Amino acid sequence: MSEEQLRKNVYAALKALQDSLRNYKLGTGSPPDFLVNGAAPIIPQELLTGCRVFSRRNDIIADLPKGGVGVEVGTQTGRFARTLMDLAKPQKLYLLDIDYTPFRKEYVAKELEAGTVVTREGSSWELLEEFEDEYFDFAYIDAGHGYEMVKKDLLASLKKVKKGGYIVCNDFLIWSAFEGVPYGVHKAVSETIADNNLRVSHFAFHPYGYNDIAFVNS
Ligand SMILES: C[S@@+](CC[C@H](N)C(=O)[O-])C[C@H]1O[C@@H](n2cnc3c(N)ncnc32)[C@H](O)[C@@H]1O
Repeated sequence: MSEEQLRKNVYAALKALQDSLRNYKLGTGSPPDFLVNGAAPIIPQELLTGCRVFSRRNDIIADLPKGGVGVEVGTQTGRFARTLMDLAKPQKLYLLDIDYTPFRKEYVAKELEAGTVVTREGSSWELLEEFEDEYFDFAYIDAGHGYEMVKKDLLASLKKVKKGGYIVCNDFLIWSAFEGVPYGVHKAVSETIADNNLRVSHFAFHPYGYNDIAFVNS
């Protein structure tokens, strides 16, 4: 199928979605907010004081304290694990994923051999529970993007990251335009920050809006 036809298919599907969303609102009087698990709480302004804003997520990683123990929750190819090693320079980095099919060992081959990068396979929040409390200096959360999954990863991370440590969340948005899929990250992260009174330390933009946010555990 040509690129032009594929593009037409996307626009046709988008039009059908837009019509059904409009009909839902006309029929019920409310926006279809079930799609995004309802509204996120407002993050109180005082928790944003001092938040540093960056143009790329790598700048957040470069700003993390060096020499700690980190965890990438959802690693996929391992390419970003390389970035975490190069910029955060942890003494040890754990990678958690439910599926290592796309993983390319060559990104962190030397570190895997040396034992400074360790892979664990399984469900992210269950794997996190296997570590001692307050074990990590930072967690990079980027596994399942549905609301319930992110909540479970965040709940586990609050226990497993040290007080004063950093929790960085990728894909801080409500809707993934490239997949047509709701993301629960925005609501789950906003709730976690607001409910636990956590200080937002960093925010980084992404060219397609898949932004990152980081906060300090306390
Ligand atoms: C978006 S990718 C991670 C990308 C990587 N952090 C990066 O920045 O390049 C998400 C990964 O999370 C994994 N994943 C999704 N749900 C998971 C779960 N419940 N437990 C563990 N891993 C999960 C997927 O297998 C996938 O490899």
